[in-house]
Amino acid sequence: MFPDPAGRGKSVSNFCIMEDDDDVPQLSAATLAALQQFYTEKQVQESQDIEDATSMPSEDWQLSQFWYEDDTSEKLAKEAIAVAGEHGKIVCLSSPSVYKKLKELNPVVDSITLLEYDKRFAKYGQDFIFYDYNEPCRLPSNLQGQVDIVVADPPFLTDVCLEKVKQSIEFMAKDKIILCTGAIMEDSAKSLLGVTPCGFLPKHSNKLSNTFFCYTNFKPSLLLND
Ligand SMILES: C[S@@+](CC[C@H](N)C(=O)[O-])C[C@H]1O[C@@H](n2cnc3c(N)ncnc32)[C@H](O)[C@@H]1O
Repeated sequence: MFPDPAGRGKSVSNFCIMEDDDDVPQLSAATLAALQQFYTEKQVQESQDIEDATSMPSEDWQLSQFWYEDDTSEKLAKEAIAVAGEHGKIVCLSSPSVYKKLKELNPVVDSITLLEYDKRFAKYGQDFIFYDYNEPCRLPSNLQGQVDIVVADPPFLTDVCLEKVKQSIEFMAKDKIILCTGAIMEDSAKSLLGVTPCGFLPKHSNKLSNTFFCYTNFKPSLLLND
């Protein structure tokens, strides 16, 4: 609300003029209708923006994207929170559903970072760091040795991919790792990262033909046998 420049006891808001006397200017019905339409469209756009910012984009199978079922993301996120503790640092490496769930749960942690190749997740702002496993050490120096728990789900079930991801994890992790990948990667996961199946079976919203295991290098408190 702005004072009337002429100082006649009249004040001016963004859209309305209010006066002390009876001679109150009225907006025409057409202007009021246009204003109403403007506010309605604005409201719809705002709720659309919130939806876009929080929902998962559609899976791009060219990028080997298979999103977890909600229950799986939740269990992984809660385990990560339990490990990180208050003011810990969590990194989700190629696991955007876990990042999203963590943000919903809104834990008291120092940071939650998403390392992802798909730039659609840049909508998460500073939490998003572009990550290509082919350049495993192209990571911010402030993550070096600082991360309490890394939750990783590499895009490919190959030793080459896991060896590169291992380099990234070793660069960042203080110690603890949760790795979700195919059952066929069990030997490589153990020899490269020292992780073993914890019994929890990650589930995907589009059923996969490959069996997936969840591997850890610690005894989890929530990721129990399915
Ligand atoms: C098997 S999916 C894991 C997603 C997980 N199930 C989830 O719901 O969050 C593999 C992930 O790797 C990402 N990705 C694809 N190409 C990549 C690359 N070159 N480097 C790193 N990550 C990549 C995909 O975008 C996808 O998020």
